[in-house]
This record gives sequence, C-alpha cells and structure tokens, in this order.
Amino acid sequence: MLPLRIVVYLVAFFCIEINSSLSLDAPCHNARWNTNGMTIVDNLGILDDGMHEMHRLVIAMDTQDNLIVASDFTIRKYFLNGTIETLASGIVADSMVIDRFDNIYYNIEYTLYKLDKNGETTIVAGLSPGSDLDQLSDVSGIYVDKQGIVYISDKGNNRIVKYPLNAITGTIAADDQLDNPLGIFMDENQNERTLYVCDTNNHRILREGVSIIGKGVQSIFDDSFNPHNIFVDFHGVVYVSHARGLFRWSPTQKRVQVILEWECPHFFDEGTEHPVSFTFDSEWNLYVTDRGNGSVKKFLFDRNSCE
Ligand SMILES: *[C@@H]1O[C@H](CO)[C@@H](O)[C@H](O)[C@H]1NC(C)=O
Ligand SMILES: *[C@@H]1O[C@H](CO)[C@@H](O)[C@H](O)[C@H]1NC(C)=O
Repeated sequence: MLPLRIVVYLVAFFCIEINSSLSLDAPCHNARWNTNGMTIVDNLGILDDGMHEMHRLVIAMDTQDNLIVASDFTIRKYFLNGTIETLASGIVADSMVIDRFDNIYYNIEYTLYKLDKNGETTIVAGLSPGSDLDQLSDVSGIYVDKQGIVYISDKGNNRIVKYPLNAITGTIAADDQLDNPLGIFMDENQNERTLYVCDTNNHRILREGVSIIGKGVQSIFDDSFNPHNIFVDFHGVVYVSHARGLFRWSPTQKRVQVILEWECPHFFDEGTEHPVSFTFDSEWNLYVTDRGNGSVKKFLFDRNSCE
C-alpha cells in the first residue's frame, strides 16, 4: 500500500493537472486573440456553376465544439474530427442560434424554425408575415434562454418579441426607439437577466433599453458604427461585431478593446444586410464569418495572455 502522504501528493498532482486543462470561465482582463485567422471552412459561396454571390452566412457552436454553418441553401455541421454533415438543405437562413440542448433555431424570412437532434423541424413562431403578435416581418436575431424562452429581433417591425415556451403568440420585449435591430443577447449569468440589443441604424448597443456603447456614448463612435451581432461572457464583458471589426467592452472599465479590424470591403462585410456572425468554442477561440470570401476563420485565443 502507498503511504498516505504519497497518495495525497498524487491526488494533489492530478487535481492540478486537471485544473490547468480546464477552460477559463471567461477571458481575463488582458485577454488577446491571434489576429492571423486560419480559414477553417472555405468555398461556401461557390456552387456547381462556379459563380454565385453568397447571401447569407451565419455560424454557431454546439456544446461539443462542433461548428454549425448556415450558408446559402444548407445548414451543415462541421465535426471536430473533420466529418461534415448536412442537417438541412434547400433553405437560406438569415439568423441561427443553438440552445443548450443543441437544438438549432433558424429563420427563413418571417418564420422561425427549430431543428432538433433527431432532425425534426417544427415552427416556433411567425406563422405569417405582419406585425401582429403571432406574426413576424423580418427576423434578424435570435436568442434562446436556459428555460427555452425565445427572443426574436424582428427588424421589419423594429421590435424584439419574446415567446414563452410553446407559445406561438409573443409579447413585446422591447420596441421603443429601435431602428433596424440586428443581433440580440440575454445575459443570464448575473443576478438580473439583462437584454442586449444591437440597435443598428441608431448606431448603438442597448442594455435593458439604455444606450451603453456607440454613438452619443463614446466619442469614437459615429454614424458609421453599425453593430451586427453581440455576445456577453460570464464576466459581463460584451463582444460586438460590426461593419469594420470586432471589439469587446468591459462594463467595469467602460473601455473598448479592439480584437479584430478589417478594411477591405470584399473581405468581411460592410453593410448591415449581411451581418458578420461570430462565435467561440469552449477554449475561447474565436470564429468569424467572411461572407465576401465564403469562408469561416478561426482566431486562436492566446491563453498566455491570461496567465
Ligand atoms: C466524427 O464524429 C462523428 C460524431 O461523433 C461521427 O459520427 C463520425 O463518424 C466521426 N467521423 C470520423 C471520420 O471519425
Ligand atoms: C478573400 O477574398 C479576396 C478577394 O476576393 C482575396 O484577395 C483574399 O485573398 C481572400 N482572403 C482570404 C484570407 O481568403
């Protein structure tokens, strides 16, 4: 039998080993990402005729770090081991998210669909186009919370609509002064649940209806700031993709930290018709869509920046 002291050392050793391989719960204050992106999915815009202007490109990460890519006509799953599976075809989704059970929610125009793990598709919201509470006009952002409550950014009606579980009729979650809202996010990690909205044509980010980032709040932002998509980490740090790059903003420091910048209009996208979509894997590596190139790029998280 091993003496107790050695057993304790062994247990301590393995605990330290295991701990150091665990993921960070959120990137630290000084976190950095490598700005040289690796193309991990390519040729998405190219069809058999060799010529095709791509319309939509949206990404999300499932709980197993498999990348889901919705591009023109397909939704595909890129497994970590290299296998590619087509989950849906013949559709063009504008927005897509994955809930914590790996159900995929996506919209085609005014209708929101749910694709579950068995491959079954059901309609969640938006039976017809319009502005009633069981209708949607133009879905531009989706969030599904831990309870399965669905939030939809309906840019055609300049409103955010909330759908309780299995309800086909929604309630208004936000509508005052929105102009072309795109990405939305519900921060469920703090004491209070907090709704963030990319109020795109007003050039700002709203948190519970209050402007926190953008024109009129920070002098570096003006009419050219068009926020596309938003993510909030476990520390409440806000990540935003926009026409010219991707940055993060800490609520305590109220400081904008640029993560990526892009200039060439053919590279990443400029307008708001084709928002830049981004997501993280469990190691905080960053994935960004490049519609102009029909690709998805991966930007490695620099773990050393947080040690
Ligand atoms: C990759 O992983 C998936 C899911 O576990 C599996 O279905 C597939 O067969 C794997 N492919 C290879 C090449 O190992
Ligand atoms: C993206 O596309 C542009 C123009 O089509 C091309 O010049 C560039 O090399 C591409 N970049 C990458 C990283 O694929």
